[in-house]
Amino acid sequence: MSLQRMLKLLYALVLCVSANEDFDWTKNERGSFYYGTFPTGFSWGAGGSAYQTEGAWDKDGKGMSIWDVFAHKKGKIFLNDTADHSCEGYYKFKDDITLMKDMKFNHYRFSISWPRIFPNGIKADHINEKGIKYYDDLINMLLDNNITPIVTLYHWDLPQVLQEKYGGWQNASMVNYFNDFANLCFERFGDRVKYWITFNNPWSSAVEGYETGEHAPGLKLKGTGAYKAAHHIIKAHAKVWHTYDTQWRSKQKGLVGISLLADWGEPVDITNQRDIEAAERYVQFYMGWFATPIFNGDYPQVMKDYIGRKSAQQGLGTSRLPVFSSQEKSYIKGTCDFLGIGHFTTRYITQKNYPSGRGNSYFTDRDLVELVDPRWPDPGSEWLYSVPWGFRRLLNFVKTQYGNPMIYVTENGVSEKVQRCTDLCDEWRMQYFKDYINEMLKALKDGVNVKGYTAWSLLDKFEWDEGFSERFGLFYVDFLNKNKPRYPKASVQYYKRIISSNGFPNQREVESWRRKATETCSSSNQLLAADPLTSHMEMVTEIVVPTVCTLCILLAAVFLMFLLRGRF
Ligand code: NOJ
Repeated sequence: MSLQRMLKLLYALVLCVSANEDFDWTKNERGSFYYGTFPTGFSWGAGGSAYQTEGAWDKDGKGMSIWDVFAHKKGKIFLNDTADHSCEGYYKFKDDITLMKDMKFNHYRFSISWPRIFPNGIKADHINEKGIKYYDDLINMLLDNNITPIVTLYHWDLPQVLQEKYGGWQNASMVNYFNDFANLCFERFGDRVKYWITFNNPWSSAVEGYETGEHAPGLKLKGTGAYKAAHHIIKAHAKVWHTYDTQWRSKQKGLVGISLLADWGEPVDITNQRDIEAAERYVQFYMGWFATPIFNGDYPQVMKDYIGRKSAQQGLGTSRLPVFSSQEKSYIKGTCDFLGIGHFTTRYITQKNYPSGRGNSYFTDRDLVELVDPRWPDPGSEWLYSVPWGFRRLLNFVKTQYGNPMIYVTENGVSEKVQRCTDLCDEWRMQYFKDYINEMLKALKDGVNVKGYTAWSLLDKFEWDEGFSERFGLFYVDFLNKNKPRYPKASVQYYKRIISSNGFPNQREVESWRRKATETCSSSNQLLAADPLTSHMEMVTEIVVPTVCTLCILLAAVFLMFLLRGRF
């Protein structure tokens, strides 16, 4: 080997080693609460998404999305709820911005409904100017109030036409259709929007949409559907990033990222190598599935190995995990200006073999089981245990795996169970925010490059297959009242203090926050208790009054007829 070649090899080796440090699985510090503040300029906000909050599902020329159709089918959603009206955010966004302004948000994260812009999914068909106007107004008003819009292009609401004609994300043609949609958004909104998120939580779109069928479009293509959908989503993401990079970046100077949902997986026993490997597989099959191609150019090696081996054992000629060509790999690698992280919870993981056979699925491909510690607080959704230290672990994992990228936390929060729904004094949410945000602060101290935090969510809203039964909002929404009034929960006051202090200044002050926040929520509780009266008043004005009037008119007419008969 020539000296030059040897030097080249050595250089490549050094690059490899320095790009990805190793994550230390055996070091889990669960230290005490850390008092300190975030760097100046750290961005605070909250979020929501189009289908979950807008309502106006068939108004002003909007087309149908896969979620409109899915939710209208009986038996798909808890209590057969739909988001037809939801928070009526389409009409109430001005009120919502007032709430955000009062909380001194730096940013607000929302998504654009693709079928509100292209009712049939396709640019050549029709552009709905009324839909564009809605987002124009929303963006302008946010900016007028000094709130930076962080805009998601795809939060699961694919135009139904594209599902029916092509099979949605099972079909490669989605890549170009999505690119057309994104390109139009850059053209129309990009002079004002500087933070773009291509996909929100593509894991859910792929697994719950095409593997388990719990989400729209409700397909159950076990062992193949999710991998295929994800493959096209990753390509679509890369294409949109390149479109921005080549056509818009120099003019608009914005950033394009993706938002990945990532639960943390902790080895049951950190001294057991098999548990460590199983935990890493859990994280790789979850976040790594999307992040590794985008940062490093291909699927995680462990996914290729496991799915490839199991496919061969099934007697298949090729892996159920699709393959990127070498051109595709280099096209996809590096297509992320910032990484959005959605994080809610953690699982303990241990190794378990699932012999390959007819029942192969995304879940059995991983060869592991998920466990929870019964002592973990479980205040809301069944799957959501509060495990703050998992957040710091996850953020450090991202730092080591993907070369310390710029991170925005795009979702983090907790829901409440249905029976506690009218309690605005949400102690458990304050605790959750306090502890999770504190772990994020520790991660920053560890050197993780987090630039902003988005509480999930601003409002109670439609929670996908759980309907309205799980409330994630800082603000309670009374869905039974046609006006959908919003009431602040105690966590509004609490989060407001974190924002105004830019963290946790000192013990004495932070300890007073909870008391102060709870004081305000009891008066809000009274307001809410009075709300049935408002709904009742509405019923009186909308049903009782018109009915009584009509009866009066009828009676008057009959009376008049009698009078007239008597005369002639
Ligand atoms: C992640 C989804 O992106 C979001 O829409 C949802 O509200 C949260 N998970 C909570 O389930």
